[in-house]
Amino acid sequence: MANKAEIERRRTFAIISHPDAGKTTLTEKLLLFGGAIQVAGAVKSNKIKKTATSDFMEIERQRGISVATSVMGFEYDGKKINILDTPGHQDFAEDTFRTLTAVDSVIVVIDVAKGVEIQTEKLVKVCQMRDTPIIVFINKLDRVGKDAFDLLDELEEKLNLNVIPLSWPIGMGPDFKGVYSRYEKSLKLFSPHGKQSTEDTVEISDLSDKILDKRIGERDAETLREEVEMLEEVYPEFVHEEYLEGLVSPVFFGSAINNFGVRELLDCFIDIAPSPQPSITETKEINPYDDEFSGFVFKIHANMDPNHRNRLAFVKVCSGKFERNKNYLHSRLGRKLKFSSPTAFMAEKKSIVDEAFPGDIVGLHDSGNFKIGDSLSENEPLKFKGIPSFSPEQFKYIENTDPMKAKQLAKGIDQLMDEGVAQLFTNLRNGRKIIGTVGALQFEVIQHRLKHEYNASCRWEPIQIHKACWFTCEDKNKFEEFANPKIRLIAEDKEKRKVFLTSSDYELRMEQQNFPEIKFHFTSEFDS
Ligand code: G4P
Repeated sequence: MANKAEIERRRTFAIISHPDAGKTTLTEKLLLFGGAIQVAGAVKSNKIKKTATSDFMEIERQRGISVATSVMGFEYDGKKINILDTPGHQDFAEDTFRTLTAVDSVIVVIDVAKGVEIQTEKLVKVCQMRDTPIIVFINKLDRVGKDAFDLLDELEEKLNLNVIPLSWPIGMGPDFKGVYSRYEKSLKLFSPHGKQSTEDTVEISDLSDKILDKRIGERDAETLREEVEMLEEVYPEFVHEEYLEGLVSPVFFGSAINNFGVRELLDCFIDIAPSPQPSITETKEINPYDDEFSGFVFKIHANMDPNHRNRLAFVKVCSGKFERNKNYLHSRLGRKLKFSSPTAFMAEKKSIVDEAFPGDIVGLHDSGNFKIGDSLSENEPLKFKGIPSFSPEQFKYIENTDPMKAKQLAKGIDQLMDEGVAQLFTNLRNGRKIIGTVGALQFEVIQHRLKHEYNASCRWEPIQIHKACWFTCEDKNKFEEFANPKIRLIAEDKEKRKVFLTSSDYELRMEQQNFPEIKFHFTSEFDS
């Protein structure tokens, strides 16, 4: 328990949103509060803009930025805060899903005018699968948007969240006057100065206080009183335990670009957000307070320097203390490795660290030892659960166009798959290799990287697949009865597990009906 104080002060989380809701802006304001950066604009968005689809240099540049902002640590009010960045572009959603396996809580940013958007729905679902505590920040209140009550209903309906507003807006757009913090029982007044704002705080223990009318005008004061009364009737009181269990979600309102409502969010966040939580492995639960170190790889980033094919593996410390130059067991390889220059991330700076605690992320230089989901521990081999691959949504055959470079191509594909860029399936009938991705952009990224990093060239050929799902069956005969006649639709993943390639949802439903004994799985993590 020697690390208790260090563990308790850590808050490791991600900010998630649909692109353009304000994730980057909010991240930057949080870093400014933490003194981790001095000027606005220091954090570059790592989102790959739509226009970049065919602009490889842009993709490469963006990849460079995203490694710098993958993890941003800072100190605030005695707490060590680690923000794990997630790519905004939906084609990289799988990356985001995996990052969510390494956080203890999330903040969801919603654009007040757009409400809940599709990408937010998907990401929140992944958080809910893991009972990750969620705080919602409704952004851009300086613009005219949806009614606050309607937004709360939308959050409940579309995201299935039980919301509890802990702050409440007074007007919006040109009439935005500020927020009333139900959490702190104070009024924060908004006064825009271009892109800056100052917060004028008035302590209000009783909303009937006439000072309210003086500060925001009688009409707005009356509306605020009525609305807050309504909130008290409709929404239950905030219970910290319920939030920690992922049962209720506090909601805040503000304007990230104006730095308004951000400090309340941060102050409440460090108060209520969970410190590092236990992790599940196939053999036991790992408690962060355990003495022995353990951790897992949730992200691998290829080095930007094409001449050195080393990569950075991002390891989430789950228990004990990680120490530089100490031997740790790599469970999958079954041997011990030590790391002489583990990297920690403070804001946009990287530095070599001697030790790291649960909740921290260390970057380990890797020349091909790691793949996503690998674990490190002191002695006991471990396999962490909860780091699944999802069924890809786009598929293509990959063909070698340079017979002299078959080895390079195979190595390139292998390593890119270990990095989690896409998934590889091998068709059982003809042995052809199929690459499955979440978005179309990955095909271009893979082709480009194979060429530049592995000196291999490939082309894509279309294949009519709608979904790939893993399947299992306890009865071996039934398994074969299902699989044998449709061998052209069966492939193996990299771990040699069988995957069914369906051409439509209809076909899949028919198969499910015809073969009730077969279990179909839509993520790679299942009990057979
Ligand atoms: P993302 O990471 O979620 O994709 O969003 P990002 O922070 O990049 O913000 C998207 C756009 O929304 C940016 O404008 C940003 O300035 C703006 N924005 C963020 N917060 C607020 C807010 O509170 N109010 C208003 N009115 N706008 C906000 P942009 O024009 O795309 O980029 P830029 O030229 O301002 O950098």
